[in-house]
Amino acid sequence: MSKSVLLIHGPNLNLLGTREPEVYGKTTLKDIETDCTAHAKGRDVELAVFQSNHEGEIIDAIHDARGKHDAIIINAGAYTHTSVAIRDAISGVEVPVYEVHLSNIHAREEFRHHSHMSAVAKAVICGLGPQGYIAAIDAIAAE
Ligand code: DQA
Repeated sequence: MSKSVLLIHGPNLNLLGTREPEVYGKTTLKDIETDCTAHAKGRDVELAVFQSNHEGEIIDAIHDARGKHDAIIINAGAYTHTSVAIRDAISGVEVPVYEVHLSNIHAREEFRHHSHMSAVAKAVICGLGPQGYIAAIDAIAAE
């Protein structure tokens, strides 16, 4: 049976491609979404994509995933390091969450080392660039 997955991108990720390309690469968010959607299709996974710069909208998207999606892949951007509210949304819905970061947050500034969501995520992938999303899709498909 095919699986349904929600891919959530948090703040500033809409700027990918031009935002600090030495850190995040030159791939745009649209390219990532196109590649992930095509890859997911090949794995019998239906992918819904959502980006927001607003914490509350991300929380609403996590709530809405309940009963609708089999898993969530999330790159919460800087909210990763600040948002107890997003962490609580994740632990409040019974949907497994795969946390992804393009960069290796542990090799960067100290304030990026802590993620509020890792403790409630099913898995954490960081440092693989856009390939991290593909790895998460493959892991969900293999579940
Ligand atoms: C990020 C890492 C965060 O520290 C940063 O605030 C981002 C992107 C990543 O994908 O590497 O916006 O989540």
